[in-house]
Amino acid sequence: MRTYQFTHSLPTTVYFGDGAIANLAKSLAQYGKKVLLVYGGSSIKKSGLYDTVTAILRDNGFTWWELSGVKPNPEIASVDAGGKMCREHGVEVVLAVGGGSSVDCAKGICAAAFYEGPAWDLAEDRSKFVDALPLVDVLTLAATGSEMDPGGVITNPEKHIKSGIFHPKLMPKVSILDPVYTYTVPRNQTAAGTADIYAHTVETYFDPAMDLYFIDGIAESILRTCVKYGRVAMDEPTNFEARANLMWASPWAINGMIGGGRQSGWTLHGLQHPIGAYYDNTHGDGLAILMPHWFRKILSEDTVDMFVKYGVNVFGIDKTLPKMEIAKKAIEATEDFLFNQMEIPRTLSAIGVDDKHIEDMAAQAAPGMAHSFVPLSYDDCVAIYKAAL
Ligand code: NZQ
Ligand code: ZN
Repeated sequence: MRTYQFTHSLPTTVYFGDGAIANLAKSLAQYGKKVLLVYGGSSIKKSGLYDTVTAILRDNGFTWWELSGVKPNPEIASVDAGGKMCREHGVEVVLAVGGGSSVDCAKGICAAAFYEGPAWDLAEDRSKFVDALPLVDVLTLAATGSEMDPGGVITNPEKHIKSGIFHPKLMPKVSILDPVYTYTVPRNQTAAGTADIYAHTVETYFDPAMDLYFIDGIAESILRTCVKYGRVAMDEPTNFEARANLMWASPWAINGMIGGGRQSGWTLHGLQHPIGAYYDNTHGDGLAILMPHWFRKILSEDTVDMFVKYGVNVFGIDKTLPKMEIAKKAIEATEDFLFNQMEIPRTLSAIGVDDKHIEDMAAQAAPGMAHSFVPLSYDDCVAIYKAAL
């Protein structure tokens, strides 16, 4: 395997910090004056951000239409509806305001604007992508990294599938990241978002390549940032330092920076997405619950060095201990962080999952496991789901 061979393009302009919204009008204006505003439920109305954004649109002469009600685990129907609005009104730029679900849905809409057929086609067959409208976002939740990556995860509730609409043209043109907008994120969503950032990093970090000292250091820094600030943000929701560190860690966990050319398996996400598709629960919770089970499944004499690196550099475990002991302590420290400090439920049943769809979920997950740190079979997937129940 060759590492340190890759192409890395980051065309997203980020305006970060308190007051970064001052850059919204000029960011949109470079693409046109006709805007589709995409957002979720009531959170941006309660926080006042909706009023702020619409005042900016009004005061700067934009015409806009609204696609609201984007659900967590955004559904394909919202993408179809938004794409249709873009085509009907000649929308020139899409503006997402909200968490990852709003940004993801907006990405789907950007692509659907150029595709007359059902937008699900774009998730099933990437060759059907035609073009995309430019996307600007104002992020309100540190979690997915959608603010600096080229994919939107969309749910098809009829087929029970979560799938991605991916294309380099779906990278946001501008992301406005103001940590103050995350002050209102509830405790459980703060925990789940932090677990998502953590999982993105782990997915990439756990890899046979041991020569990526520079970027592994960045990955470890992201993981330590989650451990240091996740609980602080839960206890002190208006702590700017905590919110800012989490918000800036988030995109670097997924934007390719820590990839280094390795073939990340994205095992946890492969296992979690079917859970989200069947049970419509919170993405980060499922990842957190699965993580220790995955770790225990793949820990062996062959993989122990990776766990030692993780345990010593992220949790400060004594490096003079026997390797296998360090690895086990590292898994216990992960559990302590996720379940005791972040108060995420420990089991899938606690987030509404039962044993009815385990075989279906494993059948969805297993084909993508060939590039996992340790490849997993269908039976391995079933065993992880059952252990996590
Ligand atoms: O819908 P509203 O009312 O806005 O409320 C949301 C929602 O209920 C609320 N919220 C967001 N910001 C808030 C807030 N509440 C108060 N104050 C704020 N500032 O939080 C709830 C969850 O929001 P959502 O956008 O669903 O969360 P998240 O950012 O975690 O996004 C999850 C989705 O992203 C996908 C997941 O699968 C899931 O569908 N992912 C996207 C990825 C990507 N594009 O790269 C990668 C990830 O691995 C993930 O799969
Ligand atoms: Zn994720």
